[in-house]
Amino acid sequence: MDRPEIILAPGPTPIPPEVLLAQGSPLVYHRGPGFGKLMRDVTDRLRQLYRTEDADILLMTSSGTGGLESAIQNCFSPGDEVFVPNAGFFADRWKRLAEAFGLTVRTVDYEWGAKIRPEDVAATLAEHPVKAVLLTQSETSTGVIQPIEQLARVANDAGTLVVVDVVSSLGAVPFDFDGWGVDVALGGSQKALSASPGISFVAISDRAWQAASTATNPRFYFDWEIYRQFAALPDPENPWTPAISVMQGLHAALELYFQDGVDAAMARHRSLSRAVKEGAQALGLDLFGEGLDDNWTVTAIRAPEGIDADTIAGRIRSDFGVVLAPGQGPLKGKVFRIGHFGYFSELDILRGLAALEMTLERLGYPVKRGAAVAAAEGVFQDARAGA
Ligand SMILES: Cc1ncc(COP(=O)(O)O)c(C=O)c1O
Repeated sequence: MDRPEIILAPGPTPIPPEVLLAQGSPLVYHRGPGFGKLMRDVTDRLRQLYRTEDADILLMTSSGTGGLESAIQNCFSPGDEVFVPNAGFFADRWKRLAEAFGLTVRTVDYEWGAKIRPEDVAATLAEHPVKAVLLTQSETSTGVIQPIEQLARVANDAGTLVVVDVVSSLGAVPFDFDGWGVDVALGGSQKALSASPGISFVAISDRAWQAASTATNPRFYFDWEIYRQFAALPDPENPWTPAISVMQGLHAALELYFQDGVDAAMARHRSLSRAVKEGAQALGLDLFGEGLDDNWTVTAIRAPEGIDADTIAGRIRSDFGVVLAPGQGPLKGKVFRIGHFGYFSELDILRGLAALEMTLERLGYPVKRGAAVAAAEGVFQDARAGA
């Protein structure tokens, strides 16, 4: 019997039934009070998640990368210099995107899996001022959460714009747009919020608007100024026909998210993350990346000696319908990744670990049956007991 695949990847994350129903209901026409209310509610909720009073929040029809592209188009002109501390696949995407629009990109290359050091950023900016630092909060390729608060501080001290990819972190780990002095932060619907892919959102500070007012990079579909004008209508709209169904789903997803609240979501991600990590270690597997205690979005696990990580991801999918994420770039074949943010429960993690145990055993790795599941149960029981 065909059953839906069990997603244990860092996005798109599993979608709650309430969200599926909302996005499957009759379309709300995209000009008028119905859609206006959806946009207002979604924007208000996102404002709470971003933790900003005054930034503009715009909603665009695209995946996360479209949001990133909009930042490069709206804030910069060809020849502008930006700095990308590069510690993974998505930092590298910033670099390639900025170069595609004619920006001059300075980088400091780290080993993948490293945490970026604020003192390195401060030293680079002191030596060579740039217009902006382009950062990635959750480097999904390695699981590492970068220290945005500290990185933004040194960038602010240097008078540099702070642009942050929060695609796989907004709603998953703490973020504070106003408190940390961020200028632009770009998120997506299909990650921690567990809606379908198709909407990107961007929070924009006054400083970023000033940069946008003189920037000359070409832009049309993602022109923030046009979005701002339509968002300011009495019944807010998008300039172009938006992904209406995804917006209906995102609205329901945010209502669900806020039923429990931000703190509960963070606590859940932390506990699921610990369970995955302790479960993997109980099987004798090594974890990848620095600062594992903060890495609540996705865990990168090294494949055991002699077994290719892609073989593990392929086999667990064909045998059990469990979707893990493979390693990217230099980590291809070396690590596999388990996502644990968004609409995941304790039992989702336990069944994923059980499938991992059986898969590894079938691939000839010596497994103590139940070891990963038992370790994860221990984490959940301790969390419940307040330990
Ligand atoms: C940190 C990060 N940035 C950007 C993206 C790209 O998002 P999308 O695939 O929605 O364009 C992803 C997707 O995994 C991501 O994890």
